[in-house]
Amino acid sequence: MKQRLVIGNWKMNGSLADNILWATHFRHGLKSQTLQDVEVAVCPPFPYLQSIRSILPDIVQLGAQDVSSECIGAFTGEISVNMLKELQCRYVIVGHSERRARMGERDADIAEKFKLVSLAGLTPVLCVGETEQERAHGQTRSVISHQIQTVIDRCGAHALRNAVIAYEPVWAIGTGVSAELADIQSTHAVIRAQLSDNGLDADDVTLLYGGSLKPGNSEEIFSLPNVDGGLIGGASLKAADFLDICWAAQ
Ligand code: 13P
Repeated sequence: MKQRLVIGNWKMNGSLADNILWATHFRHGLKSQTLQDVEVAVCPPFPYLQSIRSILPDIVQLGAQDVSSECIGAFTGEISVNMLKELQCRYVIVGHSERRARMGERDADIAEKFKLVSLAGLTPVLCVGETEQERAHGQTRSVISHQIQTVIDRCGAHALRNAVIAYEPVWAIGTGVSAELADIQSTHAVIRAQLSDNGLDADDVTLLYGGSLKPGNSEEIFSLPNVDGGLIGGASLKAADFLDICWAAQ
């Protein structure tokens, strides 16, 4: 079986003290049961990356929530991919819908970030997904297809080998209502077909679902054939809930 991947995206939550407590609880919880065939990663806010790394056991990977599309220089407030590498991040989220909506990130900017991350040898986690309005207009497939194709056209299909794509319907994020199982399944199948049309194998790309994934629905979502794991926001903020989701992925 392909290894599952579970990533917690903490977004802009917690304090240094809260996050250290989280990592301590999580490390403790992991001792009670061995995780099999699941890779786990957490993406804390940038300032906490180093302290969280020092507490978490080595089997838990670190990820960043974003990265600059520039490498170095006069870009106030930006964080480069090499800085993330120094802090031992393995994963970097690019194109999260909150950044697309609030920071105006376009598919082309996101492709640039994707390219830098993969050239640096880190694993990009490309977030794709339709808004409520796009869904209502029947545009889910075309929106997602464009988001993915821009990356393929600008970076080359080979850049997606070993990458991660997270399907996160925008309307399901933080609402408590996840997408229907049949919709997750069919959207993931469409993504796989697009990857295959571009010469990629099913095993080349890890496909995650995100959007109100929680202990109560993780098992059924992870059991879907085309789902390789999850990208979790709110439910990753409690170490016990996130642990439950990790166990469900086994
Ligand atoms: P929620 O799990 O809070 O819906 O957030 C999902 C998400 O945006 C992860 O990146």
